[in-house]
Order: sequence, then structure tokens, then C-alpha cells
Amino acid sequence: SVPESLPPAFPPPLLSTRPVDRAAWIAAYRAVRDETERRAAPLSPEDQQVQSMADASPTKWHRAHTTWFFEQFLLREHVPGYAIHDERLHYLFNSYYVAAGPRQPRIMRGLITRPTMDEVAGYRAHVDRAVEALIEDAAPEVLERVLPILEIGLYHEQQHQELMLTDILHAFAQNPLHPVYDAAWRWPERDGRAGAKVLARGIEAVGHEGEGFSFDNESPRHEVLIQGGRIDQGLVTNADWLAFMADGGYGRAELWLSDGFIAAQTDGWEAPGYWRREGEGWASMTLAGLKPIDPAAPVTHVSYYEADAYARWAGRDLPTEAEWEVAARDGDLGDAFGHVWQWTRSAYAAYPGYRPLPGALGEYNGKFMSNQFVLRGSSVATAAGHARVPYRNFFYPHQRWQFTGLRLADARA
Ligand code: AVJ
Ligand code: FE
Repeated sequence: SVPESLPPAFPPPLLSTRPVDRAAWIAAYRAVRDETERRAAPLSPEDQQVQSMADASPTKWHRAHTTWFFEQFLLREHVPGYAIHDERLHYLFNSYYVAAGPRQPRIMRGLITRPTMDEVAGYRAHVDRAVEALIEDAAPEVLERVLPILEIGLYHEQQHQELMLTDILHAFAQNPLHPVYDAAWRWPERDGRAGAKVLARGIEAVGHEGEGFSFDNESPRHEVLIQGGRIDQGLVTNADWLAFMADGGYGRAELWLSDGFIAAQTDGWEAPGYWRREGEGWASMTLAGLKPIDPAAPVTHVSYYEADAYARWAGRDLPTEAEWEVAARDGDLGDAFGHVWQWTRSAYAAYPGYRPLPGALGEYNGKFMSNQFVLRGSSVATAAGHARVPYRNFFYPHQRWQFTGLRLADARA
């Protein structure tokens, strides 16, 4: 199934490595680009066209947008004489970079029937040739400037690889035929640790450290006070969630944030996303089609609002992102990566002294630092080699189409 096919060429060398291993960079580039195509390959042209909601994008759009990213930020800005493949595509495939010009409204991405899927493949091939030639031939001082952008482009494309799966799952979940993306898809084996780790009270450093890749929102590294308390080693499971449902959890206003209760009522939430009643029990739409709920699997497709209500019902807490990071760094969390992203109770905000990158890439993460919550870990849909302990994912509290779940903690007052 999807995430098990490790691209051995990824991650690329450290930016500081000398001499620059151009072949290794090309191999990393190819591995990432190939993985995008591998994830798209099971999907028909019709599948690749559809946009099932404003938050999701068509597969074809992901394939083109990740290509635009390299053309816009690497080739256009750093390769004199580079021939833009088709200037008109920039309006269509710029996502949200105001500094890079006007763009197709997000909710209208499904209307882009042209370029066709084959033409998007041609766009990818054009940019691939130019990027590979650049890495191969660039003068050392040019290489110096472009490798950091190439690197962010690779991690950017991996983020879209995850979105490709969550977005097509959302589209398929609207279809009563229950389309199958990958018949062999299943949850990875869990490590099964079930205890709780006691958090030592004290000052800890969190955030990015060292020479490897990080996104700007993981910096600066800084100190935080860990108050103490405990954090569970295991994830909340479907069996746990069924107990919450059976206890009327979805209908009890006293368990919910006001905005959450309104979302639950308005959207008719009575179970996690993609669950539907089947006979006496429940089934859910998965990448392998409609499957009975596995009580032992981690609960997923729950919003922050649901995670928060569940924790309140259980008389417990969500961890803060710093608590999660300290415990994960010490190897104290089971199933931290590769199952479900875990909601934390930390608002997605700037670390002290954070400054966005200069230029248009400064819009990458920083401008979204309001009204969202941080998720930690990674999911079954995350590209191999992408996840790291200090990584900060973020979504709005009502969103539930990602592979989002939770682990519980007990905050120390
Ligand atoms: C970090 C997953 C919220 O979905 O917009 C993709 C990732 N950033 N292109 C998003 C992202 C730029 C981002 N998330
Ligand atoms: Fe993007």
C-alpha cells in the first residue's frame, strides 16, 4: 500500500554537504516527482478532475501546482533564459501566493478542464527537464542559491502527495459506488504501547535544531515550561470512540466548545467523518473502499472540536504541542508517526521571534497563523521521509477530511 514504498533517494543530502552531490539531488528530485505520479496512476481522468469541496483539490491540480511551484520559485527566478512552459498556467496553478500574482479562486479548481491530464503530464516533463539540467549544470554559486528552494519544493510536493490521497478519499466518499483507490490499503501495524508517560516538570527547548530540513514555522528553537502531567503512549481507538458515541457524546452540549457544537449540529455529525451505519454497526469509507469499522484501529477523520469534546467527556486533556514534542523526542510515544495526525490543544501561532522567509515564500506558513490548531506526528498518507519530531501541521478546528486523530493527556494544573 501507498506509504510503504520508500523512495530510497529521499531525503536529499544536507545543504551544507561539500562537495555538492548533484547526482543525489537529482535522485531525490526524481523520487519525489515519481511518487506523485505513482499516487495519481490508479485514478482515471474523471477522478483527477473532480473537486468535491472547497478544501480539497483535484488530483490534476495537485500535479500541476507542485510543478508550478518549481517553475515559479526555482526556474523563473534563478535560471536566466528559462522558457516558461505556458505563462497562462500560472493563474491556474498558483495556490495562494499573493506576491506571485492573481490566481484561480480556490473553489473553482475543479472547473479547470484544460489543460488536460496529458497536457499536465507535458508540463511536468518540461519542468523536470529544466530542473534536472539546472542541478547538473549550474555554476557553484548558482547551485548555492537554488538548492534551498529545490529542497523546499521537494517537501512541498510531499505535502501535496498526502493531500492527493485525502482529497480523492473525500471525492470517493461522495459516491454511492464506494470507489476503491487501492484494494490493498490497510492500517499499518501499531506498536501497541498502552501506558502513560509521566512528563517531568521543567524547562525544555522545542523547535527545529540542527542542519536538516525544516519549515520556517518550526523556528526559532526556544524554551517552554512543561508543567508536568502525563501523556498517553497509545492513540484513541475506534472502540474508545464508540463508547463516547454510545454515551451520547455528540448530543451533549456541555462537552463541546460552542463553535464545535454548532458545527456538529449544522453538519449533522453523529460519528467521525466517512462513518455510516451498516446493519447493527458502522462502516467507513477508506482508500480501500467501504470497510467495517475496526475497533482496534485509531479513530480518524475527527475534527479538533470532536477531539476536544472527547477529551472533556473522558475527563482528560489533549496534550500541548510542546508536551507532545518532548515526549516524542524521548521515544516515549507509541504510534507517533504513520497512523494519524494528532490534534494538540495548542493554537497554531508563531514561535517567539518567528520571521517568515523573505519574498513570496514568506507566505508559505506564516500568514496562516490564526484560528487553526497544531497537529503533531504524521499519518498513513504522509510521504516516506517527510515526518519529523518538531514538524508542525495545522488545520482549522472544524476540518476532518485529513487523517486526524488524537492521543490523550492529563494536564498538570
Ligand atoms: C500544512 C497541510 C496545512 O494544506 O495548505 C501545501 C501544506 N502548504 N502547499 C496546506 C501546503 C503549501 C498545508 N498544510
Ligand atoms: Fe502548495
